[in-house]
Amino acid sequence: MKRSIIITGGAGFIGSHVVRLFVNKYPEYRIICLDALTYAGNLANLKDLEGKPNYKFVKMDICDFDQVYKLMKDEAVDGIIHLAAESHVDRSIKDPFTFAKTNVLGTLSLLQAAKACWEPGGWKVGDVPCRFYHISTDEVYGALEMTCPEGVEAPFTTKASSGSHHLAYGRDFFTEDMKYQPHSPYSAAKASSDHFVRAFHDTYGMPTIVTNCSNNYGPYQFPEKLIPLFINNIRHRKPLPVYGRGENVRDWLYVEDHARAIDVIFHKGKVAETYNIGGFNEWKNIDVIKLLINTVDRLLGRPEGADMDLISFVTDRAGHDLRYAIDSRKLQRELGWEPSLQFEEGIEKTVRWYLDNQEWMDNVTSGDYQKYYEQMYGRR
Ligand code: NAD
Ligand code: TYD
Repeated sequence: MKRSIIITGGAGFIGSHVVRLFVNKYPEYRIICLDALTYAGNLANLKDLEGKPNYKFVKMDICDFDQVYKLMKDEAVDGIIHLAAESHVDRSIKDPFTFAKTNVLGTLSLLQAAKACWEPGGWKVGDVPCRFYHISTDEVYGALEMTCPEGVEAPFTTKASSGSHHLAYGRDFFTEDMKYQPHSPYSAAKASSDHFVRAFHDTYGMPTIVTNCSNNYGPYQFPEKLIPLFINNIRHRKPLPVYGRGENVRDWLYVEDHARAIDVIFHKGKVAETYNIGGFNEWKNIDVIKLLINTVDRLLGRPEGADMDLISFVTDRAGHDLRYAIDSRKLQRELGWEPSLQFEEGIEKTVRWYLDNQEWMDNVTSGDYQKYYEQMYGRR
């Protein structure tokens, strides 16, 4: 089947992996990457796709209803995979308004444009059933208790957690039917957007799907997030600002495994359903940081652990969620998705990528990447 799909936020971290997977795997589809190129959007993340006949980049703000509607009509779009968002918790604490604008109003504008295009045709474009797939986060569920601070053998494991460490730090996990209890302005805005997406299904019959994924890591992540920031700092022997005592727990998934889940869910997921995505791979921040130091040191030929003294405990993040842990058994059971990469292998692969792509990192940290659009596409 031919399809015409908009992927919003496709020039960002996760979006670029999703765009790459769809463009390469589905030559019969038309893939339109829609991105406003904020500080987090970077066309260098998609350089290898330029010139591919089934790929098009459009610089556009999801809040601009008229432009989005026109693009959807012109391209006969039948699917939207929506990743565009403001995504960093620390920024949301300083500037919550921008998060409400992009994550809530931007999502609403996309939903309205999709409704205006799709409803008159009975939620089909030609013979193709439409689909609005909204990518969300586990952070909407709030924070879990840390009832086992030393860690216990995890009750469920996947390939992601199959290395030396398979611990759980509490007895409960985020399930799809859990109450929303967001704490940060970021997660509050994402929660609100999830509610709007479900409301468009319940009120108008829009064919929607929502997924909530745990923390991602891998290539092309903006170095404000823990893993790329710390890899770069270790390389340059700069201090590592660990919030609080580094005891907070995150559940890490390799970004390409998230992209593969999005592919499976877009094609086989049930309309109106929610799926949690994660690999049962809980780590305390301090343990991830020690793993990063050992890996960077080893790959740079330094004595392993030589850079442990870079660890610097700093004032904790306001409202810092203690523990995230996703229960992804519904997705595994119903759609057969499994993570493909074990965490320590994924970290090694990720560290290698950042060390081998210092030019990408230098462009991002200097701000030069923001000139790329004009060089490639000219001024708008
Ligand atoms: P990111 O910040 O790396 O990328 C966001 C992209 O959205 C950027 O390319 C940016 O230019 C674009 N964008 C921002 N505002 C826009 C607007 N108004 N119009 C059009 N484009 C706009 O984010 P990410 O980490 O790749 O996250 C992508 C999505 O996945 C987000 O919705 C996020 O909530 C969700 N998510 C992220 C994680 C994670 O660990 N990073 C985990 C679960 C879910
Ligand atoms: P982050 O990558 O910002 O993702 P999120 O807040 O969405 O989970 O942070 C991951 C964890 O690392 C989180 O518990 C906060 C912590 N952290 C630090 O300790 N220091 C830092 O400089 C950053 C960016 C994060």
